[in-house]
Amino acid sequence: MMEKVSEKSILAPDEVLKVENLKVWFPLKRGIGEALRGKPRRYVRAVDGISFTLKEKETFCLVGESGCGKTTTGKAIMRLVPITDGKVYVKVPKEIAEDLWVLGTDILPGNVVDLAQVPDRAIKPLRRVIQMVYQDPYASLNPRFTVRQILEEPLMIHGIALSREERLEIIAKILETVKLVPPEEFMERYPHQLSGGQRQRVAFARAIIVNPKITVADEPVSMLDVSIRAEILELMEELKERFGVTYIFITHDLAVARYICDRIAVMYLGKFVEIADARRLIENPLHPYTKALIAAIPEPDPENRKHYRNLRIKGEVPSAVNIPPGCRFHPRCVDFEERRKELSEYCPVKEPPLIEIEKDHYVACWLYAKK
Ligand SMILES: Nc1ncnc2c1ncn2[C@@H]1O[C@H](COP(=O)(O)OP(=O)(O)OP(=O)(O)O)[C@@H](O)[C@H]1O
Ligand code: SF4
Ligand SMILES: [Mg+2]
Repeated sequence: MMEKVSEKSILAPDEVLKVENLKVWFPLKRGIGEALRGKPRRYVRAVDGISFTLKEKETFCLVGESGCGKTTTGKAIMRLVPITDGKVYVKVPKEIAEDLWVLGTDILPGNVVDLAQVPDRAIKPLRRVIQMVYQDPYASLNPRFTVRQILEEPLMIHGIALSREERLEIIAKILETVKLVPPEEFMERYPHQLSGGQRQRVAFARAIIVNPKITVADEPVSMLDVSIRAEILELMEELKERFGVTYIFITHDLAVARYICDRIAVMYLGKFVEIADARRLIENPLHPYTKALIAAIPEPDPENRKHYRNLRIKGEVPSAVNIPPGCRFHPRCVDFEERRKELSEYCPVKEPPLIEIEKDHYVACWLYAKK
């Protein structure tokens, strides 16, 4: 494999992933009549041009209401859905870069690959770099497999341990790491013989066992009992420290995001409307949509909420097929409604750019952009 060592890498030494203008559009089926009349094909614009960079061992959070494109973003990074447009640069270990190259993938300087360009036949080695944990551990674990079989499968697929003894040793260690002890006791259980929290521990064990750089955790605690959510979030922290995992954490719950994330990106209809350090975003939200989301977090002390003027959010999220023109949030925005005269040339007409308002704090809203 020819590595272009001398050329500068797209990713800085502490960066693991760079997403540039990622789009995932799902084509809608056209009726024969529509096709014959030459009607243009319509799309569900699930992810509609997002960009972000992940630093090593960072927990980056995607927050937003149902249907805003969080899962689709995760799936695109896993190459589980086709990428319509954009770049997804990821840094891969040297031996995996070699496997990818043999299977026809271009390797960029610094062992970086653009996931959007990886041929389908080369997706398997990518699974050792990026893993995903899903919301419902019961649906994501094969009910006919024991815990041992569930964990042995990725080791065999990726040829990580060749002998059975070696595999059992790795499985026992990973079960201890996720605190399913004694491991021999849990190895022979089926998913239905585990509690929800234990099943999610198995799901994390299955992801981590291939030693991925990045793990996409899609609402990993939202189906769990409140009493065990904190335990799973703590486990995620421990895994990060021990294995150096970088997380993309998907949630609709800002209270959970505040607890676990370093940075938060607020998503609305396939776009980012605000990105900032988690604490800053929660304490000093700027975008009207973020303010409304934060106002919806249950807060026992009303004093703490009084500085948010706009507690309301109107109506439902529009369809991702008919995205409103201009700022896609304008039909629901209280600020626009109140300042319609001043903003009417902007909000319903031109899309606001995502700009850096203060250091590392990005907002897409005409209230802050130079008009
Ligand atoms: N395979 C698909 N084909 C067509 N449309 C899809 C497909 N997958 C997702 N969508 C649509 O894309 C949009 C984004 O869906 P996505 O599942 O990414 O949202 P989400 O933010 O994860 O929502 P939730 O919080 O409910 O999980 C939705 O309008 C959804 O209906
Ligand atoms: S750009 Fe206008 S409509 Fe959009 S969030 Fe800002 S004020 Fe509201
Ligand atoms: Mg989802």
